[in-house]
Amino acid sequence: MYQPAEDSYLILKHIKDYAKGTTLEIGTGSGILANEASKYSKTTATDIDTKSLNYCNSKYKNITFIKSNLFNNITEKYNLIIFNPPYLPLHPTEKSKELSSKNIIQDFLKQAKNHLKPKGKILLLFSSFSNINIKNFPNYKFKLIDKQHIFFEDLYLYLLTKTLNTK
Ligand SMILES: C[S@@+](CC[C@H](N)C(=O)[O-])C[C@H]1O[C@@H](n2cnc3c(N)ncnc32)[C@H](O)[C@@H]1O
Repeated sequence: MYQPAEDSYLILKHIKDYAKGTTLEIGTGSGILANEASKYSKTTATDIDTKSLNYCNSKYKNITFIKSNLFNNITEKYNLIIFNPPYLPLHPTEKSKELSSKNIIQDFLKQAKNHLKPKGKILLLFSSFSNINIKNFPNYKFKLIDKQHIFFEDLYLYLLTKTLNTK
């Protein structure tokens, strides 16, 4: 299970500003971000990892947990979607699904727009290692709301909204 780290805390401190109505967290790990969102909104959280979900289910009673690969088992739309992805293109050990998964951010962005309520927002973290060019995603407006330098890496926290022509 992913232990909260700098990336988790960078998102955590902004959740109170955006969690209103309903929140969905994809890839909840220890549940730290879903727990913060649940103080301000009705919260659902997912992970692909059964151990994380078992841990979270026993710890947090006011959050709905769903086992899902990205949005596969999600049917509803939300005011806020949070994702701290396994953001490295390839983790050096190649063991960790927590930190590395090829194309996961692209797949997330393809699907996320169908799960946002009107005026819904996304909090999404990228690393300088993520290999993402935001110009490749014209369905979203990207606003950089925070960043942090750690070791050899920069972390970027973006707030995304759908562009006007996105259905
Ligand atoms: C970097 S960790 C973030 C954990 C937690 N949200 C945090 O900020 O501390 C990424 C999480 O995404 C989960 N994950 C990886 N691939 C996934 C997928 N396809 N669908 C849902 N969750 C996934 C991992 O199991 C892990 O818990």
